[in-house]
Amino acid sequence: MKKLCAGLVLAISFASATAFADDTADLWKAKCKSCHGADGKADTKEGRKSKIDDMSTAEWQSKHSDAEIKKVISEGKPDTKMKPYKDKLSEAEIDGLVKYIRGLKQ
Ligand code: HEC
Repeated sequence: MKKLCAGLVLAISFASATAFADDTADLWKAKCKSCHGADGKADTKEGRKSKIDDMSTAEWQSKHSDAEIKKVISEGKPDTKMKPYKDKLSEAEIDGLVKYIRGLKQ
């Protein structure tokens, strides 16, 4: 019985963890990919026009803290096409995107 419970808990936490990752990937695809590209390299029309940084490089990743990334997503970057998302996304969604961006590191 104990074994069954542990297995169940594991199965549930695994299912919710992957659901969370899928949701964030969908968010990225729907709201960020058009400018930042699927892989964060910003190899897009807007990326080239606005000279958006390649977020997948180790250099970019080490230069930006989680707090900075979160702030840009929440409040946008003045005078650029990067708009604030704090009214469009929940805090949990923004935190998820920060983690997602970390995962783009190559
Ligand atoms: C309409 C195009 C566009 C969309 C859509 C967009 N961004 Fe941006 N993003 C930009 C531009 C332009 C910049 C600023 C580039 C610069 O001047 O440094 C930027 C900057 C950023 C930065 C800071 C990069 C840096 O080097 O300082 C982060 C983080 C970021 N965006 C995340 C996101 C996330 C997450 C989403 C989706 C919720 C998103 N962006 C959607 C255009 C966009």
